[in-house]
Amino acid sequence: MYYSEEIIDEVRMKNDIVDVVSGYVKLQRRGGRYWGLCPFHNEKSPSFSVTQEKQMYHCFGCGAGGNVFTFLMNYENFSFPEAVKALADRAGVSLPEQEYSEEVKRRESRRARLFSVNKEAATYFYFLLRSPQGAVGYRYLQERELGDETMKKFGLGYAGKSGGDLVAYLRGKGFEDQLIKEAGLANFSERHGLLSQFWNRVMFPIQDINHRVIGFGGRVMGQGEPKYLNSPETPIFDKRRNLYGLNFARTARSGSIILCEGYMDVIAMHQAGFSQAVASLGTAFTSEQAALLRRYTDTVLLAYDSDGAGVKAALRGIGILRESGLNGRVIDMRPYKDPDEFMKNLGKEAFAERIEKAENSFFFEIRVLESDYDMSDPESKTKFHREIAKKLCDFTEDVERENYLQAVADKYHIGADNLRRLVLAVAASTGGARPLQRPRSGVQPKHSPEENAGKSQRLLLTWITDEPSLFSKIKPYISADDFTGELYRKVAERLFSDLEQGQFQPADIISMFEDESDQKEAAAIFHTSLPRLETRQEREKAFHDIVLSVKKNSYEHYTSRLGSDISALDQVIAGKKALEELAKTHISID
Ligand code: GTP
Ligand code: MN
Repeated sequence: MYYSEEIIDEVRMKNDIVDVVSGYVKLQRRGGRYWGLCPFHNEKSPSFSVTQEKQMYHCFGCGAGGNVFTFLMNYENFSFPEAVKALADRAGVSLPEQEYSEEVKRRESRRARLFSVNKEAATYFYFLLRSPQGAVGYRYLQERELGDETMKKFGLGYAGKSGGDLVAYLRGKGFEDQLIKEAGLANFSERHGLLSQFWNRVMFPIQDINHRVIGFGGRVMGQGEPKYLNSPETPIFDKRRNLYGLNFARTARSGSIILCEGYMDVIAMHQAGFSQAVASLGTAFTSEQAALLRRYTDTVLLAYDSDGAGVKAALRGIGILRESGLNGRVIDMRPYKDPDEFMKNLGKEAFAERIEKAENSFFFEIRVLESDYDMSDPESKTKFHREIAKKLCDFTEDVERENYLQAVADKYHIGADNLRRLVLAVAASTGGARPLQRPRSGVQPKHSPEENAGKSQRLLLTWITDEPSLFSKIKPYISADDFTGELYRKVAERLFSDLEQGQFQPADIISMFEDESDQKEAAAIFHTSLPRLETRQEREKAFHDIVLSVKKNSYEHYTSRLGSDISALDQVIAGKKALEELAKTHISID
C-alpha cells in the first residue's frame, strides 16, 4: 500500500464515481446503472457501465473495470499515487507524507524520474534556442513564420552541435547515465561514451494530455536525413496512445478535432487560432488514438497532405475513424501540400472556409476511386458504378444507405433506380447489405472446469454485493476458503469480513490490489451479468444452484489435495457436511 487505507477510502468516498467519470464520458441512466461509450476501446453503442452503489465501472465490451482510482489511472495514464493525488486535490483532501512500499517506490520513482529527466532536457533545449548557440535554430523557426508566443507555448528548443553538452547538463542535475539512456535522450558509444541522441536540430517536446513531456521530435534545419528524429518508445512514451497537441486541443471546444500529419502543421494551425489541431507521432494514425479522440469529439477533420501518400493515409484514417464510431471529414488542401503551406499562401480565413467545406468521408472515398476509372469508356464507367454500389452495401442501416445512394446518384449523374438495382445485385452476389447474422446454435460453448468454477464464484460475489442481506443466508455453508482462486479468495475474505461488520464498499476492495490486471479482474467479479429471472421461484432455484456449485467445486478442489495438503482435510469434512445440508435446504432469498 502506498497511502494508509483510511486515507485512500476517504479520498474515494469524497469522489463519487459517477461525478468523476461524467467529467470524461457522457453517461445516461438506465436500469439502475449509468451507461456510456467506453473510453478504453472503440465502440458505437454503449457497453461501459458505472454503478453508483458499488462505486465501480465495468465495460462489457472490453473488460476494462475498476473504481475511481483505476479509472483515472487508465484514462489519464496516471500511476496509483498520481491518481490518489489528483482525486485528493479534486475533493480538497490533504494527503499526509507518502508511505511507499519498496517495490512501488522503485517503479514509481522510475516513471517520475523519466518525466523529470525529460522536463530538464526540454528546459535545456528551450534555453539553448534562446542563446547565441541556438541562434541558427531560432532563425530557422522564424523563417517558418513562428512567433515568440507560439515557440513558447509549444516549448520549442534547440539541440546543440556538441553531443556531450546535454549529457553533461543532465548529469549535473543528478540524473544517472542509465536513466538518460532509458529516456531515449542519449546513446552509449564505444569511443565517446554517452552522447546526445539529438544533434543540431530544432526540438519539439511531445507532451501527454497532462502537459508532461513524454518524448521529443527533432527536425533538421534545411535538408538532411532523417528529416524528423523522434524519441524511441519508453515506459512513458507510447506512440500509439498519444497525440501531439492534444494537451491544448482537448480544451479547444470547437466541436471537432483536426488531425494533421506533422508537428509543424499543428503548430501553424494553433498559431492561426485553430487550437483543435493534433497530429500523430511520426507513425500512422492508430485505433488507440481514435479512441482517445472520441473522448473529446464525435467529428474528426483530416488535414493530411494532398499528395499521393497523404491521400492513402487519409483513406486509412477514414477507416479507423469509422470503426471507432467517429464521423470523419476530409479538408481539401489543394493546390498546396499541407495546412502550413496552405495558410502561408492563402491565409487563415481561406483555411477556415476549407474547414467549413470539409468533405464527407464517403464522398472523398468515391472521388479517390473515380480517378482510377475512365468515364469516357462505358465499360470502365460501369465498373466504377459497381464499385459505388459495393461501397453503398457497407451501410447497414437502410435509411442511411438510401440517403447516400440518392446523394451519390445525384452527384455522379446516375439514375437512382438503376443504382438501387445495382446495389441489390451486388448485395445478392456478396451475401447481403447487412453483416450476416449467424444462426443461433442451441449448443453452449464448452468451458473448462476452472472456468465454470470461476463463473459460479463470480456470480455469487456479484449477487451478494447486489443484495448484501443474502450474506447471512449463505454464511452457514460458504466461507472465503470456498473461493479457490487466490484473487477470488482475497476478495471474498475482505467482502465477508466487511459484511460481518455490517459495512462494506466493493470499490475499496479494488484498492487492495496493486497490480492493474488484478484490479481489473477484481472489478469484473462484481459485474457478472446475473441471470434475468422473472419469478421468485426461479431466482431461488438459480441462487441455490450457484451456492451448491461453488461448494461442490471447493469440495472437489480440497479432495484432490488431500494427499499433499494436510489442512485440506478440515475443508473436505466441512464441505461434505455442507453439501449434504445444502442438498435438502431451501434458501429463501428475501
Ligand atoms: P516540415 O517539412 O517541417 O513542414 O514537416 P511536415 O510537418 O510537412 O512533415 P512531413 O509531412 O514531412 O512529415 C509529417 C510527420 O511525419 C512529421 O511531423 C514527423 O512526425 C514524421 N516524419 C517526417 N519525416 C520523418 C522521418 O524522417 N523520420 C521519422 N521517424 N518521422 C518523420
Ligand atoms: Mn510541412
